[in-house]
Parts: sequence; structure tokens; C-alpha cells
Amino acid sequence: FFIHRFKGLRDVEEEVAKKLKIKKVIVVPGMIQDEEIALKEVGKTAANYLKNMIQGKMIIGITGGGTMAALAEEMTKEQGKSYDVVVVPARGGLGKDVDKQSNTIAAKIANKLGGTYKLFYMPDNIDKNLLPTLSGDPMIKEVVEYIEKIQMLIFGIGRADKMAMRRGLNPMEVQGLIENGAVSEAFGYYFNKNGETVREVSTIGMSLDKFKKLEHIIGVAVGADKAEALVSISNLNPSLVMVVDENLANQILK
Ligand code: G3H
Repeated sequence: FFIHRFKGLRDVEEEVAKKLKIKKVIVVPGMIQDEEIALKEVGKTAANYLKNMIQGKMIIGITGGGTMAALAEEMTKEQGKSYDVVVVPARGGLGKDVDKQSNTIAAKIANKLGGTYKLFYMPDNIDKNLLPTLSGDPMIKEVVEYIEKIQMLIFGIGRADKMAMRRGLNPMEVQGLIENGAVSEAFGYYFNKNGETVREVSTIGMSLDKFKKLEHIIGVAVGADKAEALVSISNLNPSLVMVVDENLANQILK
């Protein structure tokens, strides 16, 4: 049974990767209905994959959100082993929930890996006129220099509607985004189903161009309702490796 099951899952992974035209898909088995448990399992699998991908000295970019928080939580600290990494939030954005903030997640992942981290005290939705001034601040500049050198990114993928509401956009703005075709959100950008930018959250940090050039990118997503968002994000960079739950993988193949 297990061998059969195992084989079956590998087939699903390959089919999903082929359909999304991305490098690799890792599916966490089990058709888990409890979201908490699914987040933990995907987090654990992604954390292990991430560790295996670290080569030598590396600057690792991360984002916020519940899935990334689960990854940080589930990552195991290895006794007597440390990785030569600097973990840095990829873009500004603080949110309301400290556990899901990229700063918290960066610190946690760095501690588990035995590396160091940079904190980025940069909210989103900043008045555009203030961006140049903020970018000139020496503390912010230092972090931005790290962000520009990110070699590996690990990030969460959200639905445009849910993320817009979480960010506190008013109902009119949310509706506007949806009417303009936004289906996904990642690292502070909203995209349509083809992966074209619909709106960029006003903040400082990793640019979309930088993302498109990255060779090592790991996305994490849980839940069948993120299928359209995942299809959208997969258009951005074929080097993407996705870690998902089985419900989401099956939804992609429907
Ligand atoms: O930007 C998208 C979010 O990181 C997704 O957040 O993991 O809480 O669904 P979530």
C-alpha cells in the first residue's frame, strides 16, 4: 500500500509541476482537513527542504503570513550544527499579528539555523512621497543592501481578496482590485491570473525584477482555495519550487 501510495504522490507532484510549468512541487500527503495541522505539515516539509538547499554562505529572504509562521515554528534546531546564513525580510510590512510578521519569522528561522538576521522596521502602505526619504535612512539602507543580495527566497502565497482585507483596504479598494483581475498576492504585489502586476503595495524592499531573476525560490501554500493564486504566481519565475498540501495539489489538477 505504501509503495503504491508513494508512487501515486510522486505522479501528482510531477503533474502539478508540469501544469504550473515550475521546477518542482512537493506535496504533503493526507488530504488534511484541519488547517492548523496542514500548515504544520507543510511548514515542516518546507523547512527541511530549505535546509537541504542551503549551500555555504547565503542570504535568505523571507516573507510574513501564517504559512511562513508555521514554517518557522516547525523548523528544527540541529544540535551542534549551524548554517552560515543571514535571514532578512524581503519587503516591508508589519501587520497586526506579531507572530506572522516577517521580522519575527526572520529571527526565528535564523535562530533555528544558527545564523544571524536583519530586522526591517518598515510598514507597508507608506505615502509614496515618503519612500525616498525613508530609503535614505542608514538603518534602512543597510537592510536594503542585504535584500538586494538575497540568494534564496522563501515566501507565502495569498489570495488577493483575503490579503487585501487583511491589509485593511476598504471594501471599495478590495472590489477595485478584484475588478482589475487580482487573484493573488505575494511579497507585497497583487497579480492577475497571468502573473501580471495589478497593484504594488507601497513599501521598500525586494523588487519584482529581483524576484524574477532568483534561482532559488521556495513558495509555501496551504488549502484548495489558493489554487488560482498559485497558478497566478507560477507565471513569475520557472525556477519556483512549491511546497503544498494534497488538497491544493488536487485542486490544481481539476
Ligand atoms: O502574501 C501572502 C501571505 O504570505 C499568505 O499568508 O500564509 O497567512 O495565508 P498566509
